[in-house]
Amino acid sequence: MQASSFASLPNELVAQLLATSPKAELHVHIEGTLEPELIFALARRNRVTLRYDDVDALRRAYAFTDLQSFLDLYYAGCDVLRTEQDFFDLAWAYFERAAHSGVVRAEPFFDPQSHTARGVGFEVFMPAFIQAAKRAQDELGLSVGWILSVLRHLPEDEALQTLRAAEPWLDHIIGLGLDSSERGNPPEKFARVFAQAAQLGLHRVAHAGEEGPPEYVRGALDGLGVERIDHGVRASEDPALMQRLAREQVPLTVCPLSNVRLCVVDSLAQHNLPQLLAAGLKVTVNSDDPAYFGGYVNDNLLQLFAAQPMLGAPQAYILLRNSLEASFAADADKALWIAQLDALWRDAGGAA
Ligand code: ADE
Ligand code: ZN
Repeated sequence: MQASSFASLPNELVAQLLATSPKAELHVHIEGTLEPELIFALARRNRVTLRYDDVDALRRAYAFTDLQSFLDLYYAGCDVLRTEQDFFDLAWAYFERAAHSGVVRAEPFFDPQSHTARGVGFEVFMPAFIQAAKRAQDELGLSVGWILSVLRHLPEDEALQTLRAAEPWLDHIIGLGLDSSERGNPPEKFARVFAQAAQLGLHRVAHAGEEGPPEYVRGALDGLGVERIDHGVRASEDPALMQRLAREQVPLTVCPLSNVRLCVVDSLAQHNLPQLLAAGLKVTVNSDDPAYFGGYVNDNLLQLFAAQPMLGAPQAYILLRNSLEASFAADADKALWIAQLDALWRDAGGAA
């Protein structure tokens, strides 16, 4: 379907299509979907004392100045996750919200080291993630592929140990990711663990070019062999890299509200996503850590489109289709979802 054939659709219809269309979410940390209300509920259940008196006080603390100021609170929040039931409740709450937002495919990250460091092992969280994903498929029609993400502020040896500990669970894990503090932790530090992941048949993705320089995007592609770049917005500082990303159609999983909340950009109106799209990059829109950044995937799409006059129906259709194409789902599933997307847009009057 030609995106340009949608050019005349009115803004209200575009907003409705953005919210209701089938879409994939490819960049969401399951620990980042831990809403303050659930933090308090799990703290009560597990008799954990929190530093905040109530949900409002905790929410008020979500005033971040950079990635690290967020990560400090995000890792602290994980402390209430203790039992298999806690991890199930966390994942299920996200899957219900996602399915109601039109998400047909989710590829959430989980950070094992945030849990194993507290004595909570794979045998606690993996059964919960597996059961939640199965129930999401059965009851919500939501397809799920889990991505194990290693923490880049820790040594590579610990990432290697984490991948080894995951081996009994690899039937339920589709890929390896790299997240946490980017500055000073270049992708090449993790070359061995990504080589092992390739040997194990896992997909590979990495956060790069969020706070880190464009060289980290190149390092993730060339040093780690990644198939997608998480964030990647700082690639726009490097014209040769932009040309390469466009030529190779490397998907970028961009998270607009995250970029504003972590001061990567000043405002949604100044976000460079329209420029990345216009340069022919395969851009997708995602929520990153929605419980901390003020919105889920549809909030990201709708607020960005409201803030950016350059974005209209053709860009909306392309972003939705990109999300499905860039997923690691089976080709037959992707073709089905794209056919559903096209039918919805054709019925809305978009086909010329
Ligand atoms: N972990 C959770 N969210 C992250 C982000 N936006 N960047 C790096 N690591 C993260
Ligand atoms: Zn992220």
